[in-house]
Amino acid sequence: MALWGGRFAGDTSAMFKRVNDSLPFDQVMASEDIFGSIVWSRALAEAGVLTSEEQADIESALSVLKAQADAGEIDFDQSSEEDIHSFVEAWLTDKLGDLGRKLHTGRSRNDQVATDFRLWVKQQLLGLKSDVVAMIDALLQCASRNADVIIPGYTHLQRAQPVYFAHWCLAYVEMLKRDVSRIDDLTARMNQSPLGCGALAGTTFAVDRYKIADQLGFDSPCLNSLDAVSDRDFVLELLFVASTGMMHLSRLSEDLIFYNSGEAGFLVLGDDVTSGSSLMPQKKNPDALELMRGKCGRVFGHLQALLVTMKGLPLAYNKDMQEDKEGAIDAVSQYHICLRIGVEVMQSLALNADKCRLAAQQGYANATELADYLVEKGVPFRNAHDFAGQAVVMAIAEKSALEDLPIAHLQSIHPEINEDVYDWLQLEAVLEKRNQLGGTGHKQVTQALYLELEKLDKL
Ligand code: ARG
Repeated sequence: MALWGGRFAGDTSAMFKRVNDSLPFDQVMASEDIFGSIVWSRALAEAGVLTSEEQADIESALSVLKAQADAGEIDFDQSSEEDIHSFVEAWLTDKLGDLGRKLHTGRSRNDQVATDFRLWVKQQLLGLKSDVVAMIDALLQCASRNADVIIPGYTHLQRAQPVYFAHWCLAYVEMLKRDVSRIDDLTARMNQSPLGCGALAGTTFAVDRYKIADQLGFDSPCLNSLDAVSDRDFVLELLFVASTGMMHLSRLSEDLIFYNSGEAGFLVLGDDVTSGSSLMPQKKNPDALELMRGKCGRVFGHLQALLVTMKGLPLAYNKDMQEDKEGAIDAVSQYHICLRIGVEVMQSLALNADKCRLAAQQGYANATELADYLVEKGVPFRNAHDFAGQAVVMAIAEKSALEDLPIAHLQSIHPEINEDVYDWLQLEAVLEKRNQLGGTGHKQVTQALYLELEKLDKL
């Protein structure tokens, strides 16, 4: 039965009910709604609205419902209640009669839904954080397994300079650590309780909002009732957190799809994360990665959708805000799935070290070294850059690598070039030169890998 029947004589249209009902999706907050109601009943008892026996009866009935909801034993889809709040109240009234009808004293669904959804988002952030940490772990493990593999590093998708594959992994570790810190920041910022703010203007009953906040596990109460019931920044931020995290996973996917291509052939993906073609028997497609990249679109869409929904809303609560949930629920579930599949991809991929190395040696990725070599001989860098460029042109014409050009040819470009240039142009030497903090030198990468593994359980 609707919670608001008294004012109405006519029936709700079936189509309006369909657009208005949120139980089909807000049932995910069942546990939070029941918990919030238990805490509210305690506040009402302290305010003298409920006797302690009444409160105890409500709490024990709601605890039974919560246990059933947590165990997945309730089929919400069988109910015709409007939303999770009406469902819980109707269930309680069914069990306790008129006592159940006392629970909503001094409360509005507006502060209730804001509270429930904050509790839900906080819980999701916990789960997402552990998923992101698991993905960081998978990247670190993959880096450790392939510590000596060298791949070409790219800019503009042109071979630029060689890097260790582990360095590539560590780049994504940095991104994912920022994702973790965004989750932490959001958790801290949104950790305030709207309960006790009523419909918009605050509650008349003498509830202790600090105590309510504390019992709900929030740091403090929200300080303005109008804001408390109409704020959905925490949902927008959740969507931004998910969007940014998904964007990182998408870039990782794009790299791996390319590395896995027939043209690059740097790695082979496991059978467990690839699929075949219904027509072409030879195909083994990187579908898991393509879906990680593809699902970004809908998550970004959810962020955009809620921003647009919120932008014109007057204070305080408006039913438009019920649109905050489906996108957020979907975004969390897509981000969660993609992080999980990301772990499986990192666990199953096998690098082809020889092909990686060969590619890293090609494309004149050591041309910067030749310029640096000339700088070492006292040539100003800008001139050295020109000479190295000329050497590349010569090498292309001779269909040769820089390090395979005869010394006489190199000397025709600059007389300061000696036999020792060949040491500089070797692949490992190129990498070893980059041993400053943050570079791809072996010592740096090994150290970074060690430090990140150390820090993992402190995230
Ligand atoms: N189902 C609503 C939502 O998700 C709950 C709040 C309804 N409040 C109201 N006054 N109609 O936003």
